[in-house]
Amino acid sequence: MAPKDEFVKTPDRGGVSRRSFLKTAGVSGLATAVTSAGVAELEAQTGPAVITGDVPVTLMVNGRRVNLTIEPRVTLLNALRNRADLTGNKRVCDRGACGACTMIVDGRTVYSCSTLAIEVQGKQIRTVDGLANGNTLHPVQQAFVDTDGLMCGFCTPGFVVATVALLERTPNPTLDQAKKGLDGNICRCGTFVRILEAAMKAKGVVRG
Ligand code: FES
Ligand code: FES
Repeated sequence: MAPKDEFVKTPDRGGVSRRSFLKTAGVSGLATAVTSAGVAELEAQTGPAVITGDVPVTLMVNGRRVNLTIEPRVTLLNALRNRADLTGNKRVCDRGACGACTMIVDGRTVYSCSTLAIEVQGKQIRTVDGLANGNTLHPVQQAFVDTDGLMCGFCTPGFVVATVALLERTPNPTLDQAKKGLDGNICRCGTFVRILEAAMKAKGVVRG
């Protein structure tokens, strides 16, 4: 077993937030996915196990099975962007602060940059890539176009997904409900007014 420091110092993708995130979230996810008497016995003897190396991970994404071989520490966002060519959702803050990476997992929005891929096996994952029906945009995507609800666009995939989740949960929200439903997402360009316009325009027409 590799020492803990080797695990957290692996280049990439890490920073202080990743380190603390993995310390708190990683072990439970790993234990869930790699459940075995061996791991339990090891943990009983030496404390929480740190598992390195690639493992098979199967995800259900936008209704399709995606088989990956990745390290247990890989986030859902990185797994889909780097290994499954699903690049619609963006990596912006990479620390659960901006919402650009928002995906829907079993009906609930998650920050995919702060969710381990291995933890969401067996769940239904939806990304912005799966919203359109061929060349026909999802009503929420169309509403963003119609209201010009974006500037640079980095926040847009996360806002679109969060809006879809909001409207599936609350098909006819008030403006205050829409604000609350989208308050986990940040637009640095300040297009909040247009984004809310898009949400209100799409309400009542969102597919389940
Ligand atoms: S990239 Fe995930 S919350 Fe900002
Ligand atoms: S459109 Fe630029 S961050 Fe929202």
